Amino acid sequence: MIRATILGVGSYVPERVVTNDELRYLDDQHVRRDTVQTETNDEWIRSRSGIEARRYVPNDGVTTSSDLGLFAARRALDDAGVTAQEIDCIIFATLSPDIHFPGNAVFLQSKLGVDGEAGCACYDIRQQCSGFVYGLQMADTFVRTGTYRRVLLVGAELHSHSLDYSTRGRDVMVLFGDGAGAVVIGPKETDDPRDGVLYTHCGADGSGAMDLHLKIFEIKRAPFVSYDPRDREQNLSMYPQMNGKKVFLNAARTMVQSVGRALEKTGLTWDDIDWFVPHQANLRINEAVVQYGNIPPEKALNTIQQYGNTTAATVPLTIDHHRKLGTVKKGDVVLSTVFGAGYTWGSAIFRL
Ligand code: UT7
Repeated sequence: MIRATILGVGSYVPERVVTNDELRYLDDQHVRRDTVQTETNDEWIRSRSGIEARRYVPNDGVTTSSDLGLFAARRALDDAGVTAQEIDCIIFATLSPDIHFPGNAVFLQSKLGVDGEAGCACYDIRQQCSGFVYGLQMADTFVRTGTYRRVLLVGAELHSHSLDYSTRGRDVMVLFGDGAGAVVIGPKETDDPRDGVLYTHCGADGSGAMDLHLKIFEIKRAPFVSYDPRDREQNLSMYPQMNGKKVFLNAARTMVQSVGRALEKTGLTWDDIDWFVPHQANLRINEAVVQYGNIPPEKALNTIQQYGNTTAATVPLTIDHHRKLGTVKKGDVVLSTVFGAGYTWGSAIFRL
């Protein structure tokens, strides 16, 4: 039977490392000032979230999230031994697209040099921190049904330009970083039920939609963008807003349930799974999921310490990071569970 399999993985993070100490000196252009701009500190950020540093793109007016996606995509294509010309579907997951429309997948297609009359299908999906698992479910279905043969799935985020670098925005600002991850998915003829993508499940609960949101605009209003750049401090529509405690509790509870469901539906146990790769929103969430989900702690992989929360990029970025360290190897089985704004969530089990 035909199963969808992961042919290659790649990731990219920008060079600039912003430590917790430096973060509090940054102004809204990410320039380090002599005086503290945000009342926060390393101890608070580490103890509440596990984060030690994050990566930022240069504030050059040029770099976009589709660029980050491009760098990760090239690495995934190399890893897969697949050319961009062979890709017949791009799925781009991001909450920080280059512009409002069109979505990032078509920009990525052009940057890969495979645009034109015979250009492949391009999908953009949102789903925030759950984007990778949602995209994997789509890619798995497309490949198994023969709709597409080579799917490029990218999660990329440029958060650093849309954060509130003041004490008012500190609860959200300290959590997020820039980065990208990508996988190439293709068909494999196999009778092994434990090969390729074994399982995906996605869910959502719209009643939590406003617990974590970024408006930018409200189309019901005219003008739908109301933004006075001279009064940036006051304009809440321009910055993500979060009910942190509520999101935290829902994330931990839902991720535990999602892991349990994945094991129950597949009949697998932790003996069959090499690694647990949760979304990287908060190390305390992931530690709670490991504890209450009865997950062997030595199988849980995190990168939030180095990269912060890169939303749709966290899962492939974490896998690639640990692959470069030699922890994760080709053929390993991964259970990944995500939760994010929406609320949205999902789990996937796949062999690398
Ligand atoms: O990726 C999508 C999903 N996102 C998440 O899952 C994130 C979920 N939420 C969280 O990770 C946590 O709720 C946070 C890390 C955002 C906050 O941690 P918390 O333990 O829930 O802290 P809190 O919001 O209850 O704030 C405690 C105190 C407050 O001060 P008072 O009112 O007790 O005096 C905050 O004002 O910490 C203060 N605080 C900060 N202090 C220093 C909030 N942010 C900061 C900060 N630095 N950055």
